[in-house]
Amino acid sequence: MATLVLDHLNKIYKPRGRAPVKAVDDVNLASADGEIIGLLGSSGCGKTSTLRMIAGFEDVSSGTIRIGEQPIQQTAPARRGVAMAFEGYALYPPLKIEDNIGFALLRQRMPRAEVRKRVRDIAELLEIQPILERYPPTISAGQQQRASLARALVRRAPVSLLDEPMSQLEPQLRAILRARIKDYLAAHQMTTVFVTHDQTEAIALADRIAVMEKGVLQQFASPAELKERPANLFVASFIGEPPMNVVQAEIGTTRGARVVQLFDRAGEPSFTLPIGGLGQDQIPLAPGKVILGIRPHRITLADQGLQGRIQSNQWLGDQTHLLIEVNGIPLTVVTHRRIPGRIGDNLAIEIPPRALHLFEPASGRALLHGGDAVRAAA
Ligand SMILES: Nc1ncnc2c1ncn2[C@@H]1O[C@H](COP(=O)(O)OP(=O)(O)O)[C@@H](O)[C@H]1O
Ligand SMILES: [Mg+2]
Repeated sequence: MATLVLDHLNKIYKPRGRAPVKAVDDVNLASADGEIIGLLGSSGCGKTSTLRMIAGFEDVSSGTIRIGEQPIQQTAPARRGVAMAFEGYALYPPLKIEDNIGFALLRQRMPRAEVRKRVRDIAELLEIQPILERYPPTISAGQQQRASLARALVRRAPVSLLDEPMSQLEPQLRAILRARIKDYLAAHQMTTVFVTHDQTEAIALADRIAVMEKGVLQQFASPAELKERPANLFVASFIGEPPMNVVQAEIGTTRGARVVQLFDRAGEPSFTLPIGGLGQDQIPLAPGKVILGIRPHRITLADQGLQGRIQSNQWLGDQTHLLIEVNGIPLTVVTHRRIPGRIGDNLAIEIPPRALHLFEPASGRALLHGGDAVRAAA
């Protein structure tokens, strides 16, 4: 258990004969003791580069990495107190799986019997007991991946780094192991950074999630915070399934009341929503163009309200996904009820103030979260 701090961390690759690549761009991040951090982002956004710098397999271009109080970016990888499970597993082919997993503990001179017990326990947790006597080339990719994960977890190092640790596993096994791994990390208070591009995995496993895009840390917050208070349009659109509805809009005034005017795809004015009481004090909203975000599950079906037309209606067994066109604006709506309507039928919806998120068009920065304003007013 330790804290991990990344302080203005940068990585620029300078491949021979090609333009430099800024893989990690001024990342600042500080963990709590024993915290589980999910590093989430699309392929190529700099997740592996970040982990490899923490582990010491890649030099930092600039910035500081601290474990506890100690800057470690000049320390040899083996002396950093970091255990890493690699994207490509990196098991030693000539060693049995059991010896691969126990290798670091034996090197630390832990008694053999104790190493054996620890290895058996972690193997049981990850369901690889039957292959402990086998050699890496003779087992499947999913088994190699779990062996590599076991080798990192068994060490209970001050900081554990797991790079896409379950990408090769069946969804069902992944869900089971996710819960067990979380339990193990919590039981041993292991500060952990795990990389994933799967937001469900990140939400299920992490205390806080660091969302990265193009080398830049977009937001570092709890799963609930990322959903309810996304820092910018990228996070707002990236987190949440189905994604947030995004509509061009403008802040204005109708008969003395503040409204947000929505525009359809052709740029024509469509309907307006009242925003009186939203953000009046918290965030001064100048009149002008904004981008409006509305989460699908925050829109409610109503007897009266905005009249829409059903464009698609899918019952997924435990929730309905509807696409409803309201005066030229298609909106995805999620409800847990089964809705009888067919394509072309009319349906009324309500968009409560707390469902609204406003973003600045140029920067994508969040200006206002309806939920905040509603809470503040209550
Ligand atoms: N050794 C390298 N040399 C040059 N470019 C690299 C190297 N490793 C990674 N990159 C580039 O850095 C960016 C981030 O890569 P990476 O950290 O592997 O992303 P992720 O793990 O999020 O998929 C990508 O554009 C990738 O092509
Ligand atoms: Mg990667």
